[in-house]
Amino acid sequence: MQERLKELQTEALEKIAQAADLKELNDIRVSYLGKKGPITEVLKGMGKLTAEERPKMGALANEVRDAISSGIEEKHKQLEAAAVEAKLAGETIDVTLPGRPMKTGHRHPLTNVIEEIEDLFIGMGYTVEEGPEVEKDYYNFEALNLPKGHPARDMQDSFYITEEFLLRTHTSPVQARTMEKHKGKGPVKIICPGKVYRRDNDDATHSHQFMQIEGLVIDENIRMTDLKGTLQVFAKKMFGEDREIRLRPSFFPFTEPSVEMDISCKICSGKGCSVCKKTGWIEILGAGMVHPNVLEMAGFDSKKYTGFAFGMGPERIAMLKYGVDDIRHFYTNDVRFLQQFSIHE
Ligand code: PHE
Repeated sequence: MQERLKELQTEALEKIAQAADLKELNDIRVSYLGKKGPITEVLKGMGKLTAEERPKMGALANEVRDAISSGIEEKHKQLEAAAVEAKLAGETIDVTLPGRPMKTGHRHPLTNVIEEIEDLFIGMGYTVEEGPEVEKDYYNFEALNLPKGHPARDMQDSFYITEEFLLRTHTSPVQARTMEKHKGKGPVKIICPGKVYRRDNDDATHSHQFMQIEGLVIDENIRMTDLKGTLQVFAKKMFGEDREIRLRPSFFPFTEPSVEMDISCKICSGKGCSVCKKTGWIEILGAGMVHPNVLEMAGFDSKKYTGFAFGMGPERIAMLKYGVDDIRHFYTNDVRFLQQFSIHE
């Protein structure tokens, strides 16, 4: 019996040494140490032993079991370590290999221009206001001194949704909404960037959807000279200190008097070239003193308060600033076009 136990130990330890993986090792454990294993089987013969021999044999059986379990434990550790090694070896990364460059996006040129204009006016104490793109006829036209049937509505062919609602044709309705919110109390000093829509056929200088930035200042004693000074600061900051501005009389129903502002042409410094159509001047924006009717309709006392407003198209500004010759480039998402502006971050 003693010999059989020793034999089992040697046999088991050999198998353990040869086990190739954890599963095989576990099988060995089950077969030798399990309740139905050979050791238990051998011990069934204990009955035939003398009272003296029995405890000795019991102790030996325990030794054999211990030897087998510690052999298994040891091997288990080895196999586990080997598995980790193999995994690490398989996942080795050569950090000296050159990387693959990732394409990064960058901001749209129009976003850059709009934020530049916003920053400039925020620096002069303006706040930014926004309004809905689906607008009421009232705010888009009526509150701006363009009653139904007014011939000047023809200047802006509109996308009507219902009788009452349309896609706004300019950002001026945000003026009307903001004034109304102020409930007749100044000062108001805002700029409003946003998308606008007109029934234009798209070509190099027209788009049925484009951007505008509107400015509005209302307070006591606001004069035309305040408007001119503000626009001068804007033009020089945006296009360069050497730019001159010129105001030409114009007409908008919501301003009186109304003007259009030109800046001296950067390309030819005012001498006349193809960009400025030989005039030396380039039209930039529309502006004027807020019409008393507009003030009154929004609840302001036009005897106490005066104001000025201006509106411009960021596309046009961006086209002049960066020499872009077709407004459609801003909307067709051609990466070759857009990539050129990554330096303007
Ligand atoms: N809303 C005018 C337009 O779209 C621009 C403008 C704004 C003119 C404010 C005067 C004052 O043409």
